Amino acid sequence: MDLRIDRESPVSLYLQISGGIKQLILAGRLPDGFLLPPERRLADSLGVNRTTVVNAYQQLKADGFVDAHVGQGTMVLPRRPKEPEGKPAQPLAWRQLAREGAAREPDPLVRDLLALTERRDVISMAVGLPAPEMLPLDAMGRIHARLLAERGAEVFLHSPTEGVTAFRDAICRHMVSRGIQCTVPEVLVTSGSQQALDLVARAYLAPGDVVVVEEPSYFGALETFRVAQARLMGVPADGDGMRTDLLENLLARQRPKLIYTLPTFQNPSGSVLSLERRRRLLELAYRYQVPVVEDDPYSDLRYEGQTVPSLKALDPSGYVVYLSSFSKILFPGLRLGWIAAPRPVIRQLALTKQSVDLHSNTLGQWMVERFITEGLFSRHLEASRTEYARRRDAMIEALEGEAAEGFTWNRPQGGFYVWCTYPETVSPSALMQEAAQEHVAFLPGGASFVGDPGQNHIRLNFTYCEPARIREGIARLMRAYRAVAAKPRSAERLQGGTPPIV
Ligand SMILES: Cc1ncc(COP(=O)(O)O)c(C=O)c1O
Repeated sequence: MDLRIDRESPVSLYLQISGGIKQLILAGRLPDGFLLPPERRLADSLGVNRTTVVNAYQQLKADGFVDAHVGQGTMVLPRRPKEPEGKPAQPLAWRQLAREGAAREPDPLVRDLLALTERRDVISMAVGLPAPEMLPLDAMGRIHARLLAERGAEVFLHSPTEGVTAFRDAICRHMVSRGIQCTVPEVLVTSGSQQALDLVARAYLAPGDVVVVEEPSYFGALETFRVAQARLMGVPADGDGMRTDLLENLLARQRPKLIYTLPTFQNPSGSVLSLERRRRLLELAYRYQVPVVEDDPYSDLRYEGQTVPSLKALDPSGYVVYLSSFSKILFPGLRLGWIAAPRPVIRQLALTKQSVDLHSNTLGQWMVERFITEGLFSRHLEASRTEYARRRDAMIEALEGEAAEGFTWNRPQGGFYVWCTYPETVSPSALMQEAAQEHVAFLPGGASFVGDPGQNHIRLNFTYCEPARIREGIARLMRAYRAVAAKPRSAERLQGGTPPIV
């Protein structure tokens, strides 16, 4: 046993001996079951008192490294964590340990309702998903096999934080079809758009910073900004998107850090910001020097009407940080989205991403790169548009056929959602409960607002279910609505205002 002691050291001899033996055990040089030399022999060989070695062995025993039995000597124990003695007096209060502002639990009613959407017997119009049967499984299977044959292990290895270069290049080419010119260094691949929102928040928002959003807005983004402890300021929106006539006052007074907007086929309302308002929004952003985050996962899905250029396409001055995603058209589980922005922004966000997940899924990036480059993406997009237009029409026709008094809806020209409005006299939570009884699910509108929505809303997705299921879903929803509308809401709850659903 190679053990040395230093008589000049201020550390006592027994601790030097026990420390040296611990190091030998941890380095694997004294295996499990190894018998340490008898105390007297080790004392003689080191030239120390026997008591010093006895103390060293006792220390090793107390630290769980060895065990000793009379007549058997002192033996190295297998290394396993020492069991704590007894149980803690109280369980750890994990909820209280979470940092202030960390993500909140959703309202139990909403959580249960969303859980319902997993069940086959429930018709879910609550989700924001593409139609599973439209997804190009065969083509992806072939691409996958070819990639493994051609590139081997490379597709499973690390890739640059900014993204696989060929994939970033394919994204740039795809964005040309959206009227956006950008180069590879201006693109950062993200693990879905949700990560893009998180990176923007981490890199640019400090607690208390003001973020301007249109109302309603994407619930997931509002949550991300809340977790960053930003102060959300809502600007009302109508059928033409954010009311830019109300924006200037807010910019002048609040000096926000960011404007977050979904100009095209908005989630949840399906609205499109008019060209005139897009220009006005940019003018105001320039005047008040506020960056604009444009969230655009849906603009490829236009079913009718004239294309309106994105804010990014209208912005030569580098104020717009553009976010998009493959989740709504291809596989959401691939978790692939991207940010297109000026180079300093991409550099900053790539540094931020490095501390979050190093890089996005390498294999997924290669697969989607092939899918785009082989021309399959544009064909798949065309097929999706045709099918989703059919599903939207099925939903609108079903609503027209089943229309209940006071229940209204819009007719979006693209995207995923129909936005419905109903009177304040009908309780949103009662409607949700009744809908659950009818085995139909939708997204309640309350969570999409920063403040009081003033009216009741629900968001209905029309891409996920086939037309026959959509028709049945609307029939069930309207049965639930009629049942709830027939029982007026209690006066007490109305006076208290609509309780926030989430
Ligand atoms: C407007 C908007 N932004 C971002 C996301 C997040 O999408 P993902 O992270 O799947 O790309 C969604 C998903 O519903 C969305 O609707």
